Amino acid sequence: MSSSAVPSFSPDAPEIHADPYPAFGRLRELDPLHRSDLGYWVVSRHEDVRSVLMDRQGFGQGDFVENIRLFYGPDFDVMGQRAYKWLSEVFLMQDPPHHTRVRGLVTGALNAKRVRAMEPRIREIADDLIDAMLAAGRAEFIKDFAYQLPVRVMCDMLGIDPGDPRLPEVMDAIARSFIVFEARALTEQELAEANEQIGVLQAFFEELFADRMVNPQDDLATALVQSGGQEDALSHEELVTVAIGLFGAGFETTAHMLGNGILSFAQNRQQWAALVADPRNRSAAAVDETLRFESSLIATYRTALAETQIRGETIYPGEKVLTLIGAANRDPRLFDDPDRFDIGRDARKHLSFGGGIHFCAGAELARLEGRIAFEQLAEQMPDLEADCAAPEWRPGFLFRGLSRLPITW
Ligand code: HEM
Repeated sequence: MSSSAVPSFSPDAPEIHADPYPAFGRLRELDPLHRSDLGYWVVSRHEDVRSVLMDRQGFGQGDFVENIRLFYGPDFDVMGQRAYKWLSEVFLMQDPPHHTRVRGLVTGALNAKRVRAMEPRIREIADDLIDAMLAAGRAEFIKDFAYQLPVRVMCDMLGIDPGDPRLPEVMDAIARSFIVFEARALTEQELAEANEQIGVLQAFFEELFADRMVNPQDDLATALVQSGGQEDALSHEELVTVAIGLFGAGFETTAHMLGNGILSFAQNRQQWAALVADPRNRSAAAVDETLRFESSLIATYRTALAETQIRGETIYPGEKVLTLIGAANRDPRLFDDPDRFDIGRDARKHLSFGGGIHFCAGAELARLEGRIAFEQLAEQMPDLEADCAAPEWRPGFLFRGLSRLPITW
């Protein structure tokens, strides 16, 4: 069914993992409404990705169980899997009105004013991490900085002790269970592991909320627990689901953004020199260009809720559409010479935070963390270089980030 010029799209293809952009470019230019043999549509032009994400009448999340059964077959027991049951309750995967109710609670906690108030603390955390790297004389950027900064920020927000000995296990559990977001059937082993790791996360956050019920503090965990008295309050189970989602969304994508940025700078030394020449004024643009050029979430998907036309083709209710954010971000119709990393351009029309009613609830926070990180790294490590000869990308398709990136300075 796919256009003869373009082979059927598969997120598992090894060449996509190494470098998705040539395949994304072929789809975007030659077959912009692609029908994958895997049973879903793929859109890749900026205009189409944006309109699918923005069109709340035509597209949404739809029937969760049916969506997952598309990958596994009609008899698959979706809700019998702890990880899928959890995912079905994550508000990102839901349509209004449930989505609206939970999102309101979360965006309240992450609004621009509250995020601005976090700036001094984020600067302090970034400084401490840079000092530790300088003192050690060598560093592996992903482990020593990219993960540490957003994790500590999320710990601060939720009121988790950053020295909690269970934290490494919790971070690992996030990485291994978020594989359920992937648009494909997991192997038996991956699924068993995701089910187990969601259990680890649920136990951790249940304990946190139980503690805040008896020991209220000035943190988001307490605010969430205390919202319990209100009319449209979240149940205890919903609170745990929100906390896992927030904690995970809050650090994985942000860590990848920081790593992808430093990799892109290492591959484009003149751009690093431009940042170093004026870190304070250029770091915001560096964040947007990083998000555009090497987005840490390269795709998401939607289900058609009503009969809708894309490029003259009818998409029927229940059909799934994969929206390739990474392809849209390099659409030459929007961005000149799109395969060039250039912090001097206006990259703000990238779609890396999505769009419409699911627009990233943490975008302000992620931007602030990125701006502070790039600014302070450029100021304090102006000669920073990274080993970028053969980047080691983490497994998986949707979340794009490095597993390691040794740096020197
Ligand atoms: C560079 C970092 C980040 C990137 C690239 C990113 C990207 C995205 C994208 C593309 C979506 C929409 C997904 C869709 O429509 O299917 C999204 C949603 C979301 N993000 Fe982020 N995100 C980042 C950081 C954060 C942070 C720091 C937080 C929280 C502290 C966060 C919390 C959320 C939440 C709660 C949603 C769901 C919103 C909803 O369904 O209404 N994100 N993010």
